[in-house]
Amino acid sequence: MAPFAIFAALGLFLSAANAQNCTPLTPSAQLKISDGYTAQVILNGLRVPRNIIFDTAGNLLVSEQGGAGIRRVVLTESDGNVCVASSAQLIPDTSFNHGIALSQDGKTLFVSNMASVYGYPYDAEAGTVGTRKTLIEGMRSGGHITRTLLVPSSAPDVLIVSRGSDGNIDNTTTNVEAGKSIIKTFKISELLASEIATNYVSGGEVLGWGLRNSVGVGEDPSTGGIWSVENSADDIVRSGVDIHNENPAEELNYHGVIKDAENTLKGQNYGYPACFSAWQTTNIPSNSKITVGSQFGGIAGTPFEQVTARGSLEEVDEFCRTERQGPRLIFPAHTAPLDIKFKEDGSAAYVAFHGSWDRRPPDGYRVGKIAFANGQPVANITDTTAVEYILQNEDTTKCPGACFRPVGLAFDKKGRLFMTADMSGEIFVITEV
Ligand SMILES: *[C@@H]1O[C@H](CO)[C@@H](O)[C@H](O)[C@H]1NC(C)=O
Ligand SMILES: *[C@@H]1O[C@H](CO)[C@@H](O)[C@H](O)[C@H]1NC(C)=O
Repeated sequence: MAPFAIFAALGLFLSAANAQNCTPLTPSAQLKISDGYTAQVILNGLRVPRNIIFDTAGNLLVSEQGGAGIRRVVLTESDGNVCVASSAQLIPDTSFNHGIALSQDGKTLFVSNMASVYGYPYDAEAGTVGTRKTLIEGMRSGGHITRTLLVPSSAPDVLIVSRGSDGNIDNTTTNVEAGKSIIKTFKISELLASEIATNYVSGGEVLGWGLRNSVGVGEDPSTGGIWSVENSADDIVRSGVDIHNENPAEELNYHGVIKDAENTLKGQNYGYPACFSAWQTTNIPSNSKITVGSQFGGIAGTPFEQVTARGSLEEVDEFCRTERQGPRLIFPAHTAPLDIKFKEDGSAAYVAFHGSWDRRPPDGYRVGKIAFANGQPVANITDTTAVEYILQNEDTTKCPGACFRPVGLAFDKKGRLFMTADMSGEIFVITEV
């Protein structure tokens, strides 16, 4: 390169550096950061940012639930700090509310609202989208409105779409054909080639069902294993005893490797609305066989309420333990895990806990790390300390009002973890030091 070209390139770099924001912002809440990590707010003022992904050029794409559509954030670096070079709306659709994913080649952007999944041609360098196409429809319902999307690196022609229940206890989900409380997979090539949108309820294949509201879905890139995190039921009562403050547990569920022809977990039922997992066993009536993380039934307002009028709670619990797929790990009741993302080497999963509304005192509102080895969590299901919390609010008794509430997670190529906090409109970057 001639000296003049070097000078010109350097000049361009400096002018870009001057325009960007490299000064960390003041977090809205008082943070509690574990040893070995730093956490900084790089952007605020967003309208309920939910899921985030990186495009092939290293830009961050954000789905904003507060009616702001899809945002594209261009990032640069200075002295190892993440800087925001620009932040602008990419797609102005006010209905988008959570889900966002990219095809493995980075050229098709998938976004969802309550009813549908759309595909857009996407140019990561230019920051432009082409004409959109409705790929999946037929998911309109009340209750849980997010439709989480994931394209696994191990199965690049697969789009995973997770849909929750319509309300707290949704009896219609006892029928797999209701297409609710379910995680389905769709072939991307077929969605893109089809003249008409595919119906969610009648189309696709069932990865797992009996999943009340599995908002977080992630892939362990070291194995191709698919994992989800479950938001379990509120206000549960068994044999007239209110056990809701400490039960049921939130769950980490395993769905196997999609591309394996013999994935024995494909199509399994994980229990809802009949079976739930125990977090604290001591307050549950008739608990002699209930262990931490095991599934039990007989909850008021669920299908097994009628069964227990004729049979015993123990028989129902036995059914839940043996005929339904249990979780692989559990989390405290109502802590609301909304995303799970893995380290590239598969040594850990990180989970965003949005925080509770249905217990006293409030709990959750933090990001946790789960150690993995050989494609599975290191901890036993009975281990209630399996999650190491790395970023928390200093005073959870002030939550939710004065707290950050984690939602979406994404790793960049350098292994830094980006996180949205929806109610405070912030994006954090968490770095291991
Ligand atoms: C669900 O069905 C059971 C009967 O199988 C019934 O007792 C219960 O009230 C129903 N729950 C709701 C929320 O409709
Ligand atoms: C979990 O711990 C229990 C009790 O110590 C033990 O019986 C069980 O085999 C362990 N399970 C796993 C998967 O390690």
